[in-house]
Amino acid sequence: MKVSFLNLVKQHKQIEGDLEKAVQKVMRGSHFILGDEVRFFEAEFAAYCKTKFAVGLNSGTDALFLSLLALGIGSQDEVIVPVFTFIATANAVTYTGAKPVFVDIDEKTYNIDPRKIEKAITKKTKAIIPVHLFGQSADMDPIMRIAKKHGLKVIEDACQAHGAEYKSHVITQKRIPTPPIASGASHTSHVKVGSIGNAGCFSFYPTKNLGGFGDGGMVVTNEEKVYKKLLLLRDCGRRSRYEHVVVGYNSRLDSIQAAGLRVKLKYLDCWNKMRRYNAGLYDKFLEKAEGVVRPFAADYAEHVYHIYALRLKKRDKVIDRLKSAGVGVMINYPLPLHLQKAYSCLGYGWNDFPVAEQICREIISLPMHPLLTKNEIKYVSGALIKSTEE
Ligand SMILES: Cc1ncc(COP(=O)(O)O)c(C=O)c1O
Repeated sequence: MKVSFLNLVKQHKQIEGDLEKAVQKVMRGSHFILGDEVRFFEAEFAAYCKTKFAVGLNSGTDALFLSLLALGIGSQDEVIVPVFTFIATANAVTYTGAKPVFVDIDEKTYNIDPRKIEKAITKKTKAIIPVHLFGQSADMDPIMRIAKKHGLKVIEDACQAHGAEYKSHVITQKRIPTPPIASGASHTSHVKVGSIGNAGCFSFYPTKNLGGFGDGGMVVTNEEKVYKKLLLLRDCGRRSRYEHVVVGYNSRLDSIQAAGLRVKLKYLDCWNKMRRYNAGLYDKFLEKAEGVVRPFAADYAEHVYHIYALRLKKRDKVIDRLKSAGVGVMINYPLPLHLQKAYSCLGYGWNDFPVAEQICREIISLPMHPLLTKNEIKYVSGALIKSTEE
């Protein structure tokens, strides 16, 4: 049997007719840049995340970069970033002229460890970027508390977590009426990631839980000032066709991408449910696998399993055997950011972030997508158990 890491062909086949119609509509209208499709998608995605505003951009990287700029971050500033994430999180900070300051992660969730954030704060710190890695929300209540205490902005990197939720004990969204709570009763609000901080950033890179036919991104926010600044920054700083009020960028979402993404957004919750079901099957089949640490689902998070990542010793041997058995596997990620050559200028070294370093040595990602079959999951799990025993 062959089990590929992803299967976008199968996923697209199921909704091929709707996708073709949506693309054809854009082609016939020939309004390819910032047309109605982009406006409709922005409104629908904002409604989905329960935020007031959304701005379509050309990538998740630019969503982070332009959010930082819109929130006033620039040279001389420092921004706190988890050391275990895709490099774009830190790159976005670097593009603004600010310095990324790394913080180690929690051993169970692989997200930024809130207990380690305050030690990294200096007079120059202006913002924190929690990443909702692999589809699981970072622990936002303590992060928001720290940000409030120190007057910091929070930019959520939700590039891997479309539709994931956080169960907050403190956040109440003003726009959503909440029932009165009896005194002494505890109350939690379920909020979509991206809607908690000053801005939430998403990538529509094709392999994401909500992926386009190329690059794309989005920022969601409840702050009108940030929204208006983003509209300028993404489109050459223009207020009208040839009136440019700031030095902006060309970072617009294409209408064709927006049209396809509008079709796919309708399926996102269903696909996320299927991912959770598949993760449950892996958990069951791997329950007794010795030496295998399965993903930890925190009680405050509704995980959407963009990635199903395990930890095990002797990873290289297991990967070789899984590949020989026809199983597509990946390593997300083999090297933490402080040890990447691109960031050697920051002066970090081995043992600075021991949790991330350990996890990078042990982590592997198994095939994960909504349309994996029970048989495929059973086969992958069996092949994994066999390869750890040999
Ligand atoms: C955590 C994280 N942040 C940022 C990005 C950047 O998104 P994009 O590739 O759309 O620029 C990605 C994409 O892989 C990501 O996984």
